[in-house]
Amino acid sequence: MTRLPQFHAAKWDEPLVMELGRPGARGQLFTLPDPESGVDTALPEALLRSDRPALPELTEFEVQRHYLHLSQMTLGMMGVSLFGTCTMKYNSKTSEFATLRPELAELHPYQHPETLQGVLEIMHDLDAILRALSGMDQFIFQAGGGADAAYTMAAVARAYWQDRGMLHQRTEMVTSIQAHPCNPATAASAGFTVINLPLEENGYPSLEALKAAVSERTALIMINNPDDMGIYNPEIREWVRVAKEAGALCFYDHANFNGVMGKLSARELGFDACMFMLHKTFGAPKAGGGPAVGAYGCSAELAPYLPAPIIAKSGETYVLDEDRPKSCGKIREFWGNVPQVVKAYAWARGMGAEGINLASDISVVANNYMDKKLGEISGLARSNPEISLRRMEMTRWSLQPLYEETGVDTFAVANRMADYGIDPYWMSHEPWLVPQPFTPEAGELWSKEDIDLWIAVLAKVVEEARETPELVKTAPHNQPIAQVKGEVFDDPSRWAMTWRAYQRKRAAAKA
Ligand SMILES: Cc1ncc(COP(=O)(O)O)c(C=O)c1O
Repeated sequence: MTRLPQFHAAKWDEPLVMELGRPGARGQLFTLPDPESGVDTALPEALLRSDRPALPELTEFEVQRHYLHLSQMTLGMMGVSLFGTCTMKYNSKTSEFATLRPELAELHPYQHPETLQGVLEIMHDLDAILRALSGMDQFIFQAGGGADAAYTMAAVARAYWQDRGMLHQRTEMVTSIQAHPCNPATAASAGFTVINLPLEENGYPSLEALKAAVSERTALIMINNPDDMGIYNPEIREWVRVAKEAGALCFYDHANFNGVMGKLSARELGFDACMFMLHKTFGAPKAGGGPAVGAYGCSAELAPYLPAPIIAKSGETYVLDEDRPKSCGKIREFWGNVPQVVKAYAWARGMGAEGINLASDISVVANNYMDKKLGEISGLARSNPEISLRRMEMTRWSLQPLYEETGVDTFAVANRMADYGIDPYWMSHEPWLVPQPFTPEAGELWSKEDIDLWIAVLAKVVEEARETPELVKTAPHNQPIAQVKGEVFDDPSRWAMTWRAYQRKRAAAKA
């Protein structure tokens, strides 16, 4: 029997820091400059303030206490996080420590490359590791996340077709309705027309549909496999062959690499380019759209179009190759989020080829264990139940039967699970092809006991949905905040990004 935790997050009635303090309170007493020294007149008169800044006045202790309270209210979680499609991993303290060392933390990308040899070597070596895992010829780390790496592909494809004088003809990108929305969105931003293939009963689009969609107008196809439902398209080789016959470029979105790490190579399957999420698969902290890294790799044929600079080795020296006349331009400033790259490198070196292979096996076994156990809870339905093939590292599930029976939806179940100290699961990206979805992913990290706990909490919440549906619908109850109403975000008069905007909007609301 799994013991359910008795949990209550820390809850402080903590004001905003701008509302704290009182005149005269000080954390630090600065010595006033000696009038004789001339320091106070070093700034031009026009730059001197005539009034005091509107900042709260607090002691050092009060500042510490304020931020400690805030951290207790968020870090009160750190439960079991089976957040699917994002492969949550443990971010080791050792790699965190390594990136905090001044030798790395104090580097600046404008330094002369001769003084950056250590970090350039690490990035060059990670490039080599990713080449070995994918068969590609060159990686870059500029993209600030998976979606950004998909955009890199769209930009590279545009530059490639432009260079051949065929951009006016190759105007289409083909993908599936189950691709992550960033695939069609980035292709559209780069100016391509998107063709979305529907799914068949087996969970992926038919080859016939692909054949009908690709033509001399196709610039590229973008595919993730296994997809975000955990379904592996076994016809992938044929897909690439069909697309290549039509002359298109093929891009492998490897967001779900965890289930196939070390088992297949994008290049062997015929792809021209792929991306790995260092923040998901390679143990660097999650965070999309900026503080993450989507490592983008491609064949030698596409390499001239990559964003500059490329980290190369000339003799014994690492250099930043900026001289790339065919480059598609920058995707992001400098060379990307370097501490994340170093963490991913530490993870890959720590795991080794065998460890990476084994981690993939464990993640698939863990998911299939979960699949079996979840199938025993009534009110849940596995997506595409007619598929007999085992799922990979995650499975999209549905709470539709429970919803029909009790009126309790997937948001309410996630909120109520948080009352037991379980981090909310990921439901599904849009559009919801599966009603009332949830997508748990155990990965190689969580122990059998952790997974059992997660399942036991879900089973308990399903039971509560039947017995006391209001309790579940109004959850969370043991967290510092109640339900966040999504519609608030659609109304700019009800949220503010700065203290001044908050004051202005609050005054307007009162009036
Ligand atoms: C298949 C797939 N591709 C791309 C992305 C986008 O990644 P990111 O959130 O790092 O931008 C995701 C995110 O979950 C994904 O599942």
